[in-house]
Amino acid sequence: MSIKRSSFLRGTVLGFSAALMLAACGGTTPDTADTEADPAAEETAAGEAGGTLTVATEPAFPPFEFQAENGELEGFDIDLMTAIGETAGLEVEFESLPFDGIIPALQAGTVDAAISGMTITEERLQTVDFSRPYIKAGLAIAVAEENSEVAGLDDLADKRIAVQIGTTGADQAAEVPGAEISTFDSAPLALQELANGNVDAVINDAPVTLDAIESGNISGLKVVGELITTEFYGIALPKGSENVEVVNDALMTMMEDGTYAEIYQKWFGEEPPELPESAF
Ligand code: ARG
Repeated sequence: MSIKRSSFLRGTVLGFSAALMLAACGGTTPDTADTEADPAAEETAAGEAGGTLTVATEPAFPPFEFQAENGELEGFDIDLMTAIGETAGLEVEFESLPFDGIIPALQAGTVDAAISGMTITEERLQTVDFSRPYIKAGLAIAVAEENSEVAGLDDLADKRIAVQIGTTGADQAAEVPGAEISTFDSAPLALQELANGNVDAVINDAPVTLDAIESGNISGLKVVGELITTEFYGIALPKGSENVEVVNDALMTMMEDGTYAEIYQKWFGEEPPELPESAF
């Protein structure tokens, strides 16, 4: 059984247009008045023309972020963040970091934001803020092509599972009874471990696992069963950052003027699906 990359990117709760209408009715960005009333706060916002936004990413997660052969960063997230910068009048400077170092860097204030296929979770919301959702994704289980035993999460009990450290996939694997978990610094390394036959399964974001299989970057693997979660990616920012509003405003503009759809088309070859205005 296989899931096509396009099918799970489609079909969400609210239409884009519905989300836009809700936003127009005043559903978003609660702290607007505060920020505007406080000139000191406005001065520190990077949202003013000419500012630079340092944005962390872990670029081994195609098609969202990866390094091209010439070393340049590429991917949906990279294009999206660059366009957000253009829309907001900000220079965007990417900084590559290990995935599990991104939230600590946001907390320490050494970076201004992060775009890294990062799922908006309740747990992360305790320590960082997120933009509105910009992609719907979810976790999938990958196994060897010839594996006919594993059809879903329940079949992973007592099995060997590889994951990327610090991810929602790692959190899911930790819930599987008796599983022996190996953690890797990147998703491609976890998938390679599976392709080498050293583990029984990988739990990772479906779009990334499917991209690895469909692009031929990894061979002999398949995705089984249904998606095991529905997740929304957001741009992460330090708690209380004025740039949350800057980023959300830019995203909203880009969703209205077709820039978002153009970037989505470029990487996924279809019209963007409907996205809710908030992840929870
Ligand atoms: N969506 C998952 C999470 O938030 C995995 C993200 C991994 N991203 C990356 N660039 N390696 O935990």
